[in-house]
Amino acid sequence: MAEFTKRIFSGVQPSGGLTLGNYLGMIRPSVGLQNSGEFETIYCMVDLHAITTWQDPEALRRQTREVAAGFIASGIDPAKSILFNQSQAPEHAQLAWVFNCVARMGWMQRMTQFKDKAGKNAQNASLGLFAYPALMAADILIYHATHVPVGDDQKQHLELTRDIAIKFNHDFGQEFFPVTEPIIGKAEARIMSLRDGSKKMSKSDPSDMSRLNLTDTPDDMAKKFRKAKTDPEPLPESVDGLEDRPEARNLVNIYAALSGQTQEQVIAEFAGKQFGEFKPALADLAVAQMGPIGEEMSRLMDDPAEIDRQLRAGAERAREIAAPILAKTYEIVGMIA
Ligand code: TYM
Repeated sequence: MAEFTKRIFSGVQPSGGLTLGNYLGMIRPSVGLQNSGEFETIYCMVDLHAITTWQDPEALRRQTREVAAGFIASGIDPAKSILFNQSQAPEHAQLAWVFNCVARMGWMQRMTQFKDKAGKNAQNASLGLFAYPALMAADILIYHATHVPVGDDQKQHLELTRDIAIKFNHDFGQEFFPVTEPIIGKAEARIMSLRDGSKKMSKSDPSDMSRLNLTDTPDDMAKKFRKAKTDPEPLPESVDGLEDRPEARNLVNIYAALSGQTQEQVIAEFAGKQFGEFKPALADLAVAQMGPIGEEMSRLMDDPAEIDRQLRAGAERAREIAAPILAKTYEIVGMIA
């Protein structure tokens, strides 16, 4: 197997604001990976992915800046990591076309996220939504990224990324693309909706009460936890007692993730207590951790030109890595330069 530089790539769609799910599932681990010094780290606002479903152009620009501000406020340092928006590095879309010709229809048709997002009206979904995972593979492989931190919902797309790399390498008889490893946390990789413990917390859920946004005020956060769906039972005596109680399990899980404890430790503290007591403790914890991030985001958003400058500088650095990999890919495939 060829040797590749240890390099992280991950992305977030700027199709809405950032949620607690994005933060715990991806942003917080990404900050840790940046600070470990073990990897080169590249983080991207994937605006080309966002337009696979309709986006209001002005809202898209604002959300792209807001997601960038969220990364920076959470601890991603644009001097240590490369931070940029996808469309400023055209190599992503160029490699995606090559991968459209590597990936097989059957592989794409198995993607559960397409089925979920296209819903019953798949005939009316955009072609881009169907091809989305090939662009995602290109995002990662245009940097020869070796590791990708994501939430649990992106696992299948990363398997597809591996399949594309393996097929490309096999078809052209060289070990050119790395077979990327996902980095998926345990508890924090699957934060569920506050209204329905069987659905993931999502920026596209029509109900704002279903999620915590990084920009929510302390009052919003307290209200959302107070109104979070639960069952009438008190908290159980052991973690096993959370089985078949998806909403209770989710809140315990969020508490554990925010406080850096295990679920067992949280249960040990709150066993037998009512949600009337647990929810305010959870809200206080969320406000203490997320509040400063939201405040810093709003401060950064006061100077959008500075965010744009950071993104442009990030894109230049990204392209220095991407351009030679694209050129080599074209050469391997048989294009004349
Ligand atoms: P997106 O924008 O839906 O989410 C961004 C990241 O947040 C994670 N996440 C969650 N983690 C835990 N609990 C949740 N409720 C939750 N909701 C979201 C996601 O798993 C993700 O890591 N296809 C990707 C974006 C993408 C990408 C890439 C990621 C495009 N190209 C290349 C990695 C590498 C997506 O839609 O993420």
